[in-house]
Amino acid sequence: MSVSIYEDVEYYFKSYRAYVSKVINPDDMQQLWDLHWRALVGQLPLSNLGEDEEVRMFTIGCGEGFRDSLIVREISKRHPKVYVRALEPAEDVMKLFRDKADDITKSHPGVRFDWHSTTFQAYVDDQRNGETGDEGSFHLVISGHSLYYIDDWACALDRMYDFVRPNGMLAVTIVNGECTFGKLMCIYRQTEGGKMHMLTSDDVSSYLTTKSAQIATYTREYTFDAPEIFDQTSETGNLLLDFFTQRRNFRGTAPETLQDTVLDFLKKDMEREDGSCLFDGYESEVVAVKTVST
Ligand SMILES: C[S@@+](CC[C@H](N)C(=O)[O-])C[C@H]1O[C@@H](n2cnc3c(N)ncnc32)[C@H](O)[C@@H]1O
Repeated sequence: MSVSIYEDVEYYFKSYRAYVSKVINPDDMQQLWDLHWRALVGQLPLSNLGEDEEVRMFTIGCGEGFRDSLIVREISKRHPKVYVRALEPAEDVMKLFRDKADDITKSHPGVRFDWHSTTFQAYVDDQRNGETGDEGSFHLVISGHSLYYIDDWACALDRMYDFVRPNGMLAVTIVNGECTFGKLMCIYRQTEGGKMHMLTSDDVSSYLTTKSAQIATYTREYTFDAPEIFDQTSETGNLLLDFFTQRRNFRGTAPETLQDTVLDFLKKDMEREDGSCLFDGYESEVVAVKTVST
């Protein structure tokens, strides 16, 4: 039986923060992220937007909104009026985004936020007949590493895409299939089905090719220094291992054969010739621009 890490939200964020803190090249990656998102925001269909009209953005699983705040600031350089619908089930974490939003609205009075503290599936189900009335109205819909946690991911992608307006964009940030994390996800999902979707950029881009959209992928190669995951007495090591496997207390609850498979794979993939022990966790934005049929 799988014990999903997300069942204890506080523990989940503790392990997520342990993971993020181990990146060895954060500045380089931030620069590349800035470059990618400046280009993506530049592709939004804003040229025909009237002065009083808003750029509409919907972010799903925004967490503490670190990246979303940067995207909102980038959009507001191009157009003064922005409407941001922010959806996040973990209320305490979303509060951190609200604080950032207060700063944004002080300096950019044309920006407004609309908060939804719920899961994406509950949000969609709550609307009568599953229709929100906002389908086809967003310039930008973002799912930032949230798709793994949504019950029916393919159906969620359909719904996210429905929210995008013609020429608008769906951007799904997700683990890339080529790195340690992506390969581990593929091994793990073959070994044991669980509640989480061990999804990679390959799954998302092949699903989105069924849409009438132009698909592109933007990838950043993060590397994590994480030798302590092989030390079963290390608290940080166990937090990291739980985040990699998306399972709470992997060492205490996973069947022994699964532990051997995962740890053997990680050893082979992480150990480098110079003696270092590095975990590659590349992330990709799979971007679908909704094409308009003439
Ligand atoms: C890895 S974090 C990413 C946070 C942020 N988007 C970022 O990129 O830094 C995943 C986020 O998905 C949220 N999440 C989990 N289940 C969800 C669901 N069913 N619907 C929407 N978001 C969900 C989590 O609470 C968490 O904030």
